[in-house]
Amino acid sequence: MIKPFFTTSHGVLYNADCLEVLGQMKSGVVDTVFADPPFNIGKDYKNGYNDKVEHAEYLVWCRQWILECCRVLKLGGSFFLYATPELAVQFAPIMGEMLDFRHWIALSMKGTYPRGKKLYPAHYTLLYYTRGTPHVFNKLRLPIETCRHCGGEIRDYGGHRNKMNPEGVNLSDFWSDTSPNRHKKFKVRPGVNELKLVIPERAILISTGLGGIVFDPFGGGGSTYQAAEKHHRNWIGTELYDSEHIRNRIEENYPFSISKKPRFNVEELFVNENNQNEVLRRVKGKSVPFGVGTYIS
Ligand SMILES: C[S@@+](CC[C@H](N)C(=O)[O-])C[C@H]1O[C@@H](n2cnc3c(N)ncnc32)[C@H](O)[C@@H]1O
Repeated sequence: MIKPFFTTSHGVLYNADCLEVLGQMKSGVVDTVFADPPFNIGKDYKNGYNDKVEHAEYLVWCRQWILECCRVLKLGGSFFLYATPELAVQFAPIMGEMLDFRHWIALSMKGTYPRGKKLYPAHYTLLYYTRGTPHVFNKLRLPIETCRHCGGEIRDYGGHRNKMNPEGVNLSDFWSDTSPNRHKKFKVRPGVNELKLVIPERAILISTGLGGIVFDPFGGGGSTYQAAEKHHRNWIGTELYDSEHIRNRIEENYPFSISKKPRFNVEELFVNENNQNEVLRRVKGKSVPFGVGTYIS
């Protein structure tokens, strides 16, 4: 088993290739996957990652990690995949091979401009799929919108304001109250395309209960892991390149959690090298789709 880069009371981060770690995980062990992959657009992550390869090569790689993430999901588990709409339409059929579609969540994006003969891009996509009927689905509510200057309510809800739930409005599949990226002055490391905490936070709250296990293959600035710590969910993460800033972020926000032994049994989620009778034989570096492969006798 790969040695963790660091652990907390709730989580474990591997400074490794996600495919390598996924390849050692058992099937059906995590409750939620949240993935925000590199988009192959030539972004400089300032960590040596090459974010511009042939599109076909990129898609082959995406297919591998997407199917591996589907495989490690429990029955009833959820998979949230953040992407541009153009990539999302290519990822969706791959997810659909093993999972059921729930939502195309649109996250409004401001401050962009139309390129070439195209419409003004105004949203990112968060694909939400589940492995069968979700075993957890928590309905989230947002506070009733108020004006940030006068504090008054902005909408009249078609004259039905008095019938509204005092806890707020149901979260819809259109998230217009947050921009996707953290402002650069709040980023934990230059170059990382760090999501606002609220995005993985909502995904985690919708799809897990206390103690649920969240897996994020692309650590980046560590937003998912912070969101999991905040809500007492367990987490497993991988980041191929530098990870020190993720450790620092968790240490800064959860000093009592850092370097502790995780409260959940991490080893139980991984293939036991001495007891492989229920483990699919794997070719190093290649993923094996769920239900396919040779059992070791
Ligand atoms: C878009 S960022 C993720 C940002 C993260 N969601 C956040 O909000 O902080 C993608 C990250 O994936 C990492 N990465 C790229 N290839 C990887 C691989 N094969 N395994 C693990 N991490 C990888 C990159 O180094 C980069 O930090």
